[in-house]
Amino acid sequence: MDATRTHSTVTIDLGDRSYDIRIGHRLLDDPASLEGLPTSTSALIVSNVTVAPLYAARLKTALLTRYQHVHLVELPDGEVHKDWASLNLIFDVLLQQACDRKTVLFALGGGVVGDMAGFAAACYMRGVPFVQIPTTLLAQVDSSVGGKTAINHPLGKNMIGAFYQPLRVLCDIDTLATLPQRELSAGLAEVIKYGPIADMGFFNWVEANMPALLDRSPQAMAHAIQRSCEIKAHVVGHDERESGLRAILNFGHTFGHAIEAGLGYGQWLHGEAVGCGMVMAARLSYALGCVDAHFVQRLTELVQAAGLPVVAPVLDEQDNVGRYLQLMQVDKKAEAGAIRFVVINAPGSADMRSVPDDMVGEVLRASCSSDEKRV
Ligand code: NAD
Ligand code: GLY
Repeated sequence: MDATRTHSTVTIDLGDRSYDIRIGHRLLDDPASLEGLPTSTSALIVSNVTVAPLYAARLKTALLTRYQHVHLVELPDGEVHKDWASLNLIFDVLLQQACDRKTVLFALGGGVVGDMAGFAAACYMRGVPFVQIPTTLLAQVDSSVGGKTAINHPLGKNMIGAFYQPLRVLCDIDTLATLPQRELSAGLAEVIKYGPIADMGFFNWVEANMPALLDRSPQAMAHAIQRSCEIKAHVVGHDERESGLRAILNFGHTFGHAIEAGLGYGQWLHGEAVGCGMVMAARLSYALGCVDAHFVQRLTELVQAAGLPVVAPVLDEQDNVGRYLQLMQVDKKAEAGAIRFVVINAPGSADMRSVPDDMVGEVLRASCSSDEKRV
């Protein structure tokens, strides 16, 4: 593969809000990555204290070929900072620098930065243009694509946000070279997710290529990102605002969000919680008679092979099931307090279901251990 060329482009088809996801090498500082974006006098790079020192200068150099003023805001790092205070730091800079409604925001970082920059773009002057430049695997295969933006509330994850689409997504595979291995594994959870919900051929490919993915083989990475984005683009193109189909992208997330909120944001990484949550959701699918034990075993082994946990933490020594159920009721899929789970109907196809509490309790009893600690 020519390392200087864009590897591929996936288009999200949303009528006049359609946009491209460009996947390739050296996209970050290539002025060609910016062609076709709106012109304006100013741009703002939204990043964090970890990513900005690695990549902001290169991006700024490219942006200066197009924008007269390029500002930078460095947010504190971590899921625990995905909150109002960090969001306000973005607004502070936008206002201090007298940014107008043509100012273009560039989200440079992982899913936390992308979700917050997107939400800021949706709100500032009731909406300014923004571009996603995801630098984690998780963000390249999932969070930068599809226009979900949000911050957390202490009572629930991603509960305050907006649907707001970027103008473009630039997935520069080279940025993954500096990603810690634990974060790479977290990203693999969302890659694995696409198989059971949509494409068992891709699941087979991920199984066969897990060693190459863990080694960050550029070819394997490029394929995983491209196929993940294609599946997500298809789903979002059919159901942008999650009135139905899009919910399947939350496979494993109902259990996962409960783990994240129950342990305190940042204890388990989002991808770790989703990985374990998928194993739990697969067990639920088995209990419902939709998949066989072999499928649950394969998924469990793949999650484990990615370096992710498959045993869930106990969140309350006195009433663990009750605590999980309470947390899972604060989920955007819940309706009138009834929890709804994404279950696998058959390998490669998913659906949303309400499931009796006692069946969920059985899965929790089989899945949780007090010994499971991450940090
Ligand atoms: P993250 O944004 O916290 O990034 C993980 C860590 O890696 C951070 O410490 C970050 O500073 C660091 N980092 C990022 N890029 C790096 C690089 N290239 N080199 C070295 N370090 C780097 O976590 P994440 O896993 O990217 O995203 C998780 C977030 O995404 C969660 O808040 C989750 O809710 C959200 N999410 C959103 C959607 C969506 O559709 N909007 C989908 C999935 C997840
Ligand atoms: N990650 C879930 C979604 O984008 O809908």
